[in-house]
Amino acid sequence: MLASKRILLIIGGGIAAFKALDLIRRLRERGAVVTPVLTRAGAEFVTPLSVSALAGAKVYTDLFDLTDEAEMGHIQLSRSADLIVVAPATADLMAKMAQGHASDLASTLLLATDTPVLIAPAMNVRMWQHPATQRNIATLHGDGIAFTGPNDGDMACGEHGPGRMAEPLEIVAAIDAALAEGPLKGRRILVTSGPTHEPIDPVRYIANRSSGAQGTAIARALVRLGAEVVFVTGPADTPPPDGVELHRVQTAQQMLEACHAALPVDAAICAAAVADWHVKSASTSKIKKGAGGLPQLEFAENPDILATIAQLSAGRPALVIGFAAETNDVIQNAIAKRLRKGCDWIVANDVSPETGIMGGADNEVALISDEGADHWPRMSKADVANRLAARIAETLAK
Ligand code: CTP
Repeated sequence: MLASKRILLIIGGGIAAFKALDLIRRLRERGAVVTPVLTRAGAEFVTPLSVSALAGAKVYTDLFDLTDEAEMGHIQLSRSADLIVVAPATADLMAKMAQGHASDLASTLLLATDTPVLIAPAMNVRMWQHPATQRNIATLHGDGIAFTGPNDGDMACGEHGPGRMAEPLEIVAAIDAALAEGPLKGRRILVTSGPTHEPIDPVRYIANRSSGAQGTAIARALVRLGAEVVFVTGPADTPPPDGVELHRVQTAQQMLEACHAALPVDAAICAAAVADWHVKSASTSKIKKGAGGLPQLEFAENPDILATIAQLSAGRPALVIGFAAETNDVIQNAIAKRLRKGCDWIVANDVSPETGIMGGADNEVALISDEGADHWPRMSKADVANRLAARIAETLAK
């Protein structure tokens, strides 16, 4: 899919720049043509020589290099690509992008282009979480910039948390998705998936049996149709699909926050099995048996993510879809749920044990909309996902 695709790769100044070298190799293996741009800070981490040797191409390093201007002006450079990839995208580079600076070659290229842009952020966890960076992220989402990562994990600075640049193969998958031609190209879609874990104490939690299979299949189907998918998942057994912007969460509250941060989106699909309650004052230390007798757990209601998104007064996605897993009066319950939550569609299914649907490979659903119930035959969860994705594409195109 990447054969002959022209990628303008901007390498920012962070320790993750070394991974950009592997990324170049992976892209060229797939037949992509990589034009590298190295920022001044980037050149502190990897040398222009290694970048150009791996890319098999000239590396552009400075806005005011007259030879470059004679060969190819910066405006043309930014427009002659199918996709601009920024990896690593540092906090500084993202701030420049969000504010429209043109203070060096990289920021000028990013401002001068109408080519789609994908960024792979990499920075210290505190820098990522800082309100200024979070504001910039929201601005960049609003500007239609696609993201891959950052991942959670140990960082070169010795801290742990979100901020690690996505791995080269994850970036390749995101590039594939960004270049995919499909009816959902240019659409940003939020999918929630998996269970949530609500802590009782640091070692115990309340969970449910959701595997995340249906939500994962939906996200995968949307990526195939060219959508930019924000995948917010609880701790699920099913591995997340490739090519999505992945956010891993534990609790319903964290899931809601991740969903808010993902807005604006064209559509939201809430496939997660969100716990309805959390333990009101979860213990910060392990609850010991014995002395105090049996623990008394007090519960509080969790936010309803689907209802919150469906009832947004500003920035409501054009299409909001929920699920209803029922064991009796499936259609009536689902119709009532659609109205109560304020969503556009409900995908209703019967999860009575005799159906074998919960935890199984197949699903049998009815799509409830304002036009009534559309019964689909029993099919694999992948086929349900494909059919739903096609329906979403059709509806957003109207
Ligand atoms: N949902 C959500 N946030 C919650 C609870 C549910 O986003 N806190 C979403 C689910 O992702 C699903 C839909 O709401 O799309 C249906 O959830 P369900 O738990 O079946 O609905 P409830 O409102 O809990 O109704 P009931 O308890 O009657 O089944």
